[in-house]
Amino acid sequence: MTRYLVTGGAGFIGSNLIRHLLETRPTAEIVNVDALTYAGNLESLTDVADDPRYTFLRADICDAEAVAAVMDGTDVVLHLAAESHVDRSIVSDAPFVRTNVLGTQTLLAAALAAGVDRFVHVSTDEVYGELPWRDPDDGDPSAPMFTEETPIAPRSPYSASKAASDHLALAYHHTHGMDVVVTRCSNNYGPYQFPEKLIPLMITHALEDRVLPVYGDGLYVRDWIHVLDHCRGILAAADRGGAGRVYNFGGDAEKTNLAVVTTLLAILGKPTDRIEHVKDRPGHDRRYAIDFSRAAEELGWTPQVGFEDGMQDTVRWYLENPTWWERVKSGAYWEWMKEQYG
Ligand SMILES: NC(=O)c1ccc[n+]([C@@H]2O[C@H](COP(=O)([O-])OP(=O)(O)OC[C@H]3O[C@@H](n4cnc5c(N)ncnc54)[C@H](O)[C@@H]3O)[C@@H](O)[C@H]2O)c1
Repeated sequence: MTRYLVTGGAGFIGSNLIRHLLETRPTAEIVNVDALTYAGNLESLTDVADDPRYTFLRADICDAEAVAAVMDGTDVVLHLAAESHVDRSIVSDAPFVRTNVLGTQTLLAAALAAGVDRFVHVSTDEVYGELPWRDPDDGDPSAPMFTEETPIAPRSPYSASKAASDHLALAYHHTHGMDVVVTRCSNNYGPYQFPEKLIPLMITHALEDRVLPVYGDGLYVRDWIHVLDHCRGILAAADRGGAGRVYNFGGDAEKTNLAVVTTLLAILGKPTDRIEHVKDRPGHDRRYAIDFSRAAEELGWTPQVGFEDGMQDTVRWYLENPTWWERVKSGAYWEWMKEQYG
């Protein structure tokens, strides 16, 4: 048996990762450590909650005692717990520094003391900063992309806190010889994503016939990856990544926000006249694009889900699971969102 400690397993990517691990690895034992913040939702794991290979522990990753206790006997740490929403980090950044920096340090120290075999630190392409704008449809193969050698230059409190945690994780490798791998992935979409993020926000707002708020001119460019491809990447890095190496993952699908929203509306058969351009996010990064050739060469990983298929799949999931997202959208957090953004 391999014992995986998954942090943030009640979140969007963590819950998909736990389900994928249980489905594909009969010898996996999983301990999910999650504080259940507004973004953590055990309803995303009801179908696996009774699996004897799965255990849940409600704990804060900044709690050194709880973390040390649960680390004992762990083979591989898959560290996903984080404050993850850029907009929230603009309103209030202290929880981001606390969880993303102090929480990561607490986990690294406990993993070092326990002598775990491998620590996978799950990070983001946002640590690289922004690229100059380009039209994703211009077909220019020479357009710049983030590689693992791109200097770290975060521009939001969220990405700055993630960059700090990346440096700490790599410092544990260089200083203590700990077996650490860092992954940096582009924007994820798929089932169980909290509807504060672009794609589930737009799908669920469209289903409720609400106005669809798009930041600024809507021409911000992101690379979109299906969450299952990201999960496969995290496990490929855990299995075959080099100690102290960084791996980028992307979906090979650069799109403007406006193109994403119009694709969703076309799938839902809804008109585009509900799109409303709203006040821009401060410091909004223009473009992210990711070169994942290292992951392809060293890990044998490439994304498997095409953008159109992934979008169809995701829309179907939200159509089939209204109870999950209606509950999330009626909670206290949603009231906070309405106060902030109307
Ligand atoms: N969503 C994306 O597009 C994306 C892209 C690249 C990287 N990432 C990274 O992947 C990871 C997971 O992202 P996500 O989208 O699933 O986030 P999420 O916000 O959906 O989930 C985060 C989880 O962490 C838990 N958590 C927060 N603070 C905690 C604490 N102090 N102690 C224990 N648990 C805590 C929350 O309860 C929640 O379950 C993050 O590290 C994020 O930076 C996300």
